[in-house]
Amino acid sequence: MDPNNPNRKHRSTEQYGLYQRENFWKSNDGEVPPFNTEPGALEDLAKQKLTQNGWYYASSNAGQSHTHTANRQSFYRHRIIPRMLVDTNLRDTATTIFGHRVPTPIGFAPIGINKIYHPLGELPVAKVAGELGLPYCLSTAGSQPIEDVGKANGAGPRFFQLYMPHDDELTRSLLQRAVDSGFTACILTVDTWQLGWRHDDVNTSNYAFYHGTGADLGLSDPVFQKRLREHGIDPDKQPNEAGALWIDNVWHGRAHTWEKTQWVMELWRELSGGKPFCIKGIQRVEDAQKAVEIGVDGIVVSNHAGRQVDGAVASLDALELIVDAVGDKTTVMFDSGVRSASDIFKALALGAKFVFVGRLWVWGLSIMGETGVRHVMKGLLAEFDILLNVAGFKNVGEIDRKALESGPKSYQFMTQTSKL
Ligand code: GLV
Repeated sequence: MDPNNPNRKHRSTEQYGLYQRENFWKSNDGEVPPFNTEPGALEDLAKQKLTQNGWYYASSNAGQSHTHTANRQSFYRHRIIPRMLVDTNLRDTATTIFGHRVPTPIGFAPIGINKIYHPLGELPVAKVAGELGLPYCLSTAGSQPIEDVGKANGAGPRFFQLYMPHDDELTRSLLQRAVDSGFTACILTVDTWQLGWRHDDVNTSNYAFYHGTGADLGLSDPVFQKRLREHGIDPDKQPNEAGALWIDNVWHGRAHTWEKTQWVMELWRELSGGKPFCIKGIQRVEDAQKAVEIGVDGIVVSNHAGRQVDGAVASLDALELIVDAVGDKTTVMFDSGVRSASDIFKALALGAKFVFVGRLWVWGLSIMGETGVRHVMKGLLAEFDILLNVAGFKNVGEIDRKALESGPKSYQFMTQTSKL
């Protein structure tokens, strides 16, 4: 790739593909690229680096991992049809999401308890996201205070993912902190009032919060601090009890309703001055229609990367149907099972406006902290930029269903491995 390509200065988005050249050149300077970004190699390396608990939590899925397997399989049934001799010299990878112009339709999925992957937890992740200008989504199960994550993220953009407690005063406090810390959208997760049954985690008592790790987002909350006092729990002396009280408020196992969702949507809009409110975890057309009916600004079609309901439909299959039903009425976003730029391309082609990636950056964080997250995400941006170039697409808006040849749904090749 010619770094002096004159088109580069006329492009409206960066020549991300040059990260390939940077890595190709490294050995001339006696350097090596940080690690292999091939998803299988990344996963293997993360497994070597992590503690057993860290590895189990990062890789666990519900039950037999059949939903995870279905997520991956669905990507295989769609194939990209490249176009040749298209003038992609000025290609533009950017999109707009909730009023933010962002360099690609790629964001950081909300993933909690990053301290089990790296001692600095969410901070290096938010920092890299801010540096690259990609939307960062902080999980309520995050292991750093909201305010610190906001600062680390800098100019953002950033969204706050809410696991809604049944304690309304606590919910209000969390949302207020998010508003005060510059989070510009609220994404309510509706598929996880409690974690799915994940064998390895259950078998190893692998619930960090019950063992004194990861509750910092809660411990730094003034309303939750009041709750600790009411329960007579001193978090310094009783970290396990404090962590348990926090997480039992977050993953409480008590369902919420559409009415309560409307309540929290109004609360968020009141506190934030009308900023966007979305629901994450939708797989069913009727639920997507209901979400539109109550007036959300967006939905994330997601099955929590296969970690909640075992034996469920692939999120990418759900996406197609949901886009057909409500794609012109709300902002449809996507996650679950994304491993590469081509996966992102396929989700966009099926109608997603924005795609979140999760495990890829968790593995990068686990392997090499901030450097690892940066390498994974710069690699993904380069891969996306190069994909548009080699497949003949000038911008994200051109990617539609005609870009794919799609086979029938086929779930017959089930395996029980977590890796495909
Ligand atoms: C939480 O979101 C989890 O999937 O563990």
